[in-house]
Amino acid sequence: MAEYVIAIDQGTTSSRAIVFDHSGEIVSTGQLEHEQIFPRAGWVEHDPKEIWRNVREAIGMALSKASLTRDDIVAVGITNQRETTVVWDARTGEPIHNAIVWQDTRTRRIVEELAADGGVDRFQAKVGLPLATYFAGPRICWLLDNVEGARKRAETGELLFGTIDTWLLWNLTGGTRGGIHATDVTNASRTMFMDLESLAWDSEILAAFGVPESMLPEIRPSSHAFGRVDHSQLLADVPITGILGDQHAATFGQAAFSPGSAKNTYGTGNFMIVNTGNEIVRSENGLLTTVCYQLDDEPPVYALEGSIAVTGAAVQWLRDQLGLIKDAADIERLAKTVPDNGGVYFVPAFSGLYAPYWRGDARGAIVGLTQYAKAGHLARATLEATAFQSMDVLAAADKDADVPLKELKVDGGMTVNDSLMQFQADVLGIPVVRPRITETTALGAAYAAGIGVGYWSGTKDVAKNWWADQRWRPEIDDSERQRLAREWHKAVERTFDWVD
Ligand code: G3P
Repeated sequence: MAEYVIAIDQGTTSSRAIVFDHSGEIVSTGQLEHEQIFPRAGWVEHDPKEIWRNVREAIGMALSKASLTRDDIVAVGITNQRETTVVWDARTGEPIHNAIVWQDTRTRRIVEELAADGGVDRFQAKVGLPLATYFAGPRICWLLDNVEGARKRAETGELLFGTIDTWLLWNLTGGTRGGIHATDVTNASRTMFMDLESLAWDSEILAAFGVPESMLPEIRPSSHAFGRVDHSQLLADVPITGILGDQHAATFGQAAFSPGSAKNTYGTGNFMIVNTGNEIVRSENGLLTTVCYQLDDEPPVYALEGSIAVTGAAVQWLRDQLGLIKDAADIERLAKTVPDNGGVYFVPAFSGLYAPYWRGDARGAIVGLTQYAKAGHLARATLEATAFQSMDVLAAADKDADVPLKELKVDGGMTVNDSLMQFQADVLGIPVVRPRITETTALGAAYAAGIGVGYWSGTKDVAKNWWADQRWRPEIDDSERQRLAREWHKAVERTFDWVD
């Protein structure tokens, strides 16, 4: 009887369950989108219960499409949108508030207050992150300060905190009937509370934030026996043996296991990760230091990360808020109605600017407009912004590294867009390569889970499944590349100092 691994990929816009076979091929998929809740400018929320419902349904869809049952599945892996914060009541399982999503900027004041004493890099040496609205820690403070009675309930141990992996793990393993409250090192490294060296919660930082440690999950390796799915669920009794934040999972799925290897994922945002091996490298150029992954009984592997908040989300914005396109896929066609960007640059700083700028005061701008500009130019500027933002991150990674990157592995939804990939190679000045399986996020979680039960023997075994499907080489010369970069940077500067 064939055996498979299932990965749950809980992303910013949708929840998916994907069944993989031993060669890393997709057997079946279930997918459901969830509501994006925007209560105010700069605020973004999800309903955690809707997410949990959708995950269960997606699992059912994936299993039934391939006529599989839990007996065919040897392990479950979980990967998730990172930094999105849920706090719930341990006894009832009820969230005390909607999940506050990673793009949400409501914690700006909290972050500024913490930075007033020691600057934005106050905790960087320990946690590898600057103080910014992006991370989960300040969101817990916001919830404890703004939901009535929450602080007291947290102090008496009634409330639990989790990123989405933890919320799903706790529910999958029985919820109020003894669900497991744990997370993995990659997700923990996005809270601002985990010491990168000891891989434990840091009590000094927790005290500075005023967050009780009792509400935090246990930290475990990424490939590890977390527990078994509760008997009430479709996957009853199947072991959950892999958890990774989605960008870390994509790095794993891209088999970027050796120091110096890198990947760039094109999703809601873009996230470039460069593996730095067992060494903790501190960025001097606006990148984050994060845990790449950790296998059971092995030392952690670290990474540098360039996080960009808005790339695919800008395409969604053209679709949902401006109505310029019907489907996200239409953007390439619209962009191709014009020969070039017509001088139009769009900097989608909707959540401020993340790497390498870290400007919470920035807001989006479209510049270079003349009466000549058409919808096609805006579509083109949106795609180009995706590539330009990754260009800035690669430049930072090259400055931090001893040797510049020679090639970039890419994955994620937008990599089906050939003209974008060509433009990306053009502005980077290095080849861009897309693998045969572009669902690397789910694949990485499946690999970590499969390694946990011996379905794959280790990273060498899964690396055999990776091979290149397409490669784009730069086609413009240096002076054109420099001209584009110069104009883009002029546009970026226009977004600074917009909010106080
Ligand atoms: O840090 C946020 C990131 O994990 C979100 O990824 O793919 O859901 O946009 P994605």
